[in-house]
Amino acid sequence: MQSGEIAQWVVDAQSAFQGAKDLDELKLARLAHLGDKSAIAGASRSLGNVEPSQKAELGKAIGEAKSAITIALETATQLLEVQRDARVLVDEVVDITLPPARAHKGGLHPITIIKNEISDFFIEQGFSVAEGPELESGWLNFDALNIPADHPARTMQDTFFIEPLESGMVLRTQTSPVQIRTMLTQEPPIYIISPGRTFRADELDSTHSPVFHQVEGLVIDKEITMAHLKGTLDAFAAHMFGSDAKTRLRPSFFPFTEPSAEVDLFFNGRWIEWGGCGMVNPKVLATCGIDTEIYSGFAFGMGLERTLMVRHGISDMHEIVEGDIRFTQQFGIGL
Ligand code: PHE
Repeated sequence: MQSGEIAQWVVDAQSAFQGAKDLDELKLARLAHLGDKSAIAGASRSLGNVEPSQKAELGKAIGEAKSAITIALETATQLLEVQRDARVLVDEVVDITLPPARAHKGGLHPITIIKNEISDFFIEQGFSVAEGPELESGWLNFDALNIPADHPARTMQDTFFIEPLESGMVLRTQTSPVQIRTMLTQEPPIYIISPGRTFRADELDSTHSPVFHQVEGLVIDKEITMAHLKGTLDAFAAHMFGSDAKTRLRPSFFPFTEPSAEVDLFFNGRWIEWGGCGMVNPKVLATCGIDTEIYSGFAFGMGLERTLMVRHGISDMHEIVEGDIRFTQQFGIGL
């Protein structure tokens, strides 16, 4: 092995590295000129067989050649990396002046928004949210609520009956059957609200819809009085309609409450009818196996459409039902 030979390896390696057009080619050149199978690696390995008198000189020459090749490799690597980065910047350029494809974000329907708002308020007060099926047994929708088959209240709530009629199933006309379901399965104290969809065979007009929503409240505990009912309604009204809002109870009749009252709401300088309420009829408590000597309770119910219409001055039910995005967008996305 001669020093001229070693010098040639360096020159070969340098020109191979300089000739590499990209980092992949450089990698191949590196393996050829600096890898295990390269001439210089072979020379290093065979140093052991060299005569001691020549070993030092040859070893030095090989070492210097290796570092010269390594420096050439580093220089070529840096150059090719800079070129690659510059190319990426050009290839992957993003035109930020292009107008974006505007995807409309979905939003919640205002009825869902107000339902969530009411649920959040009552959850803060320690209530839980109960739900029940929309297809309900006539017994739970009527009989258990003290509305027997021949009761006029049954015809007041125009009912969608489900075939076969003998099934006794109806589309629930109110959320009150959720009261019964809760009292049948839970021990007092009970503090629930049940918001949900309800159905009555009405024509769609500016104030009615055959599909609408109610929210029901039910409290069963020891020593519950109408004062608790009134306080709850006032806090609810203030939360929904602002601190100036107040409620007034007007004597009324519901089979499942005794005494019963209409809830009027004072909002924007006038009284309007908001919902119904009363002390849960002991007959209903007894049907559900609740000891009326120990427990009493109150219930209330109101329409979500009505609540929304009053609060936002919506005069036509069609707006709520038809789902025109220009209407719903005014309430935000509600997420
Ligand atoms: N469920 C009654 C209705 O739809 C409203 C109501 C609920 C009244 C609870 C009193 C107590 O007419």
